Amino acid sequence: MTVVAAQFNIRDMTDRDLDAVCRIETESFSDPWHRGAFEEDLRSRHTYCPVIAEPTGSIVGYACLMLFAEEAHLTNIAVDPAWRHKGIGISLMEHLLSKAEKDGCRAMFLDVRSSNSGAQRFYLKQGFTELYWRKMYYRNPPEDAIVMVRPLAGKDSDG
Ligand SMILES: CC(C)(COP(=O)(O)OP(=O)(O)OC[C@H]1O[C@@H](n2cnc3c(N)ncnc32)[C@H](O)[C@@H]1OP(=O)(O)O)[C@@H](O)C(=O)NCCC(=O)NCCS
Repeated sequence: MTVVAAQFNIRDMTDRDLDAVCRIETESFSDPWHRGAFEEDLRSRHTYCPVIAEPTGSIVGYACLMLFAEEAHLTNIAVDPAWRHKGIGISLMEHLLSKAEKDGCRAMFLDVRSSNSGAQRFYLKQGFTELYWRKMYYRNPPEDAIVMVRPLAGKDSDG
């Protein structure tokens, strides 16, 4: 089932969101980011962190995107387990792709655990392709990373 994305609100993450974000993070990853990592991203001028909230205001997903000149790096994305497979991830990703293109980025990169086939399929559906593997990049448990990339138009190349 796909939810009506228009009913959901995507806005900037703030410190007040971190209890909800950290709960989803802990329920989503075997080696979750600690709160300080999100706090650091919120204060970095290179990082864009949106949350997506249901009409009541409850947060159902979030992402962290690093923007450096013509490159965007997706460093985190998760949807509340209770809200998965409803199109929330796609809404968030479309928002991130649009933001990166508006900022002039030519490509978005990310890495994903080699065992995380669900997320890989999600990224493939969004136009990402496999670039290369990073051997034993992750811990808890140790595991290879697959680096994926998606080309972007950038703000001045659509004419
Ligand atoms: C990956 C994630 C963000 C996707 O969010 P989501 O809201 O469930 O995704 P959507 O409902 O928008 O899915 C869009 C499409 O992606 C694909 N997809 C998403 N999750 C999938 C899964 N577990 N297995 C296979 N395909 C999947 C499907 O093709 C789906 O379309 P469909 O429902 O019409 O078949 C979510 O599963 C999640 O938070 N996972 C845990 C954290 C994580 O692994 N993050 C990525 C780290 S690299």
